[in-house]
Amino acid sequence: MDLASFTWLLTGDGQTLLEVASRAYADADGDPVRATAAVRRTEPDHERSATALTQVGLRVRGVAKFGEDALRMYFTPDGLEQATRRRVADHRAARLAAAAPASVVDLGCGIGGDLLALARAGIVAAGVDLDPVRVAVAEANLAALGLEGAVMVADATTLPLDGFGVALLDPARRDGRGRVFDVDAWTPPWTFVEGLLRRPAVVKVAPGVPHDLVPDGVEAEWVSERGDVKEAALWSPHLAVARRRATVLGAHGLATLTEEDDPHDGRPRPLRAVGRYLYEPDGAVIRAGLVTAVAGLVDGGLVDEKIAYVTSDAAFRTPYATTYEVLEELPYREKPLRAALRERGVGRLTIKKRGVDVVPEQLRKRLALSGDEEATIVMTRVAGEGTALLVRPVSGPGA
Ligand SMILES: C[S@@+](CC[C@H](N)C(=O)[O-])C[C@H]1O[C@@H](n2cnc3c(N)ncnc32)[C@H](O)[C@@H]1O
Repeated sequence: MDLASFTWLLTGDGQTLLEVASRAYADADGDPVRATAAVRRTEPDHERSATALTQVGLRVRGVAKFGEDALRMYFTPDGLEQATRRRVADHRAARLAAAAPASVVDLGCGIGGDLLALARAGIVAAGVDLDPVRVAVAEANLAALGLEGAVMVADATTLPLDGFGVALLDPARRDGRGRVFDVDAWTPPWTFVEGLLRRPAVVKVAPGVPHDLVPDGVEAEWVSERGDVKEAALWSPHLAVARRRATVLGAHGLATLTEEDDPHDGRPRPLRAVGRYLYEPDGAVIRAGLVTAVAGLVDGGLVDEKIAYVTSDAAFRTPYATTYEVLEELPYREKPLRAALRERGVGRLTIKKRGVDVVPEQLRKRLALSGDEEATIVMTRVAGEGTALLVRPVSGPGA
């Protein structure tokens, strides 16, 4: 979509066509051929009807990230793909609002995922982006949701930042071929990120950011939503509260853990034999290197120096881990494992694995089970040895 097509979409005629396209999309149950035929009856211009229909399709896809707001918002396909999901953006904005900055500038605001959250949090916010279409889309999104904020085309790397309280940066980490893992190939690149982190700033980065890349005094926060790690954010020393943080956005709220909650931080890892319960830490906790904090919380230890499973004799419900009751240890080798599972009538098997060379789908196929019972096994290393544990899920993560 070019700027002229998007600008037209915001006119009275464009908005009418968008409504027609929404109805056509719903009536056609998302079938693009039927929807296109219906829209073309109102607007024979191929490009305009395609712009309106594409927008409706993107709005529907956008609901997964932005909830019902997406049905009033505007997107480009890449802009939607790269946008921060609402819950994660709201969390970041709330953290920023608590620091009471005079204003926040969103450097590389895209279609406005973060910018909208800043405005919703009552922060005086401005966004800039190199791409004029995204700037127009972000501006239209603020207006569509009745939010205040300014947006303009500018290069983040040359913009004077002195007038802004805090800078937020979400560098583009994709190119035409997909995700870019080399931090020097991000736009703007890592050298700009490092410089920015010397002033009040927060930078969204990939969850795989190596710990040793995080500059001194900067807090790295890993955020998961419903068990999936979504991103990491680097908080400059002016805004940092800890060194490492895991924030878990669960079904019922937010829970957050730092190295200060870890009684084992900087000490040898607490190892112990498998107890009655096994805890599988949330991905954000693992990425933040806070598995031993979970061990502390559940009065337990690790099953192996290098494996992110915690065990304890006590049952805790925690937002930071999925809890399993350990029913028994089964043979690790395939043949006796198959015999043990058949003996227990297991037909449907969930295989969790960590730190061992097992491909669950392939193992399940080779086991060829056919009984009526359902079971979960954990294949992992305990004190260096391959081990299979028959477990029962007790509670999932989520605050
Ligand atoms: C990952 S996206 C931002 C997504 C945004 N946070 C959201 O939630 O919608 C990165 C954006 O940075 C922009 N960008 C890259 N380099 C830039 C630069 N030097 N100045 C301004 N914007 C830039 C890209 O055009 C892209 O829209």
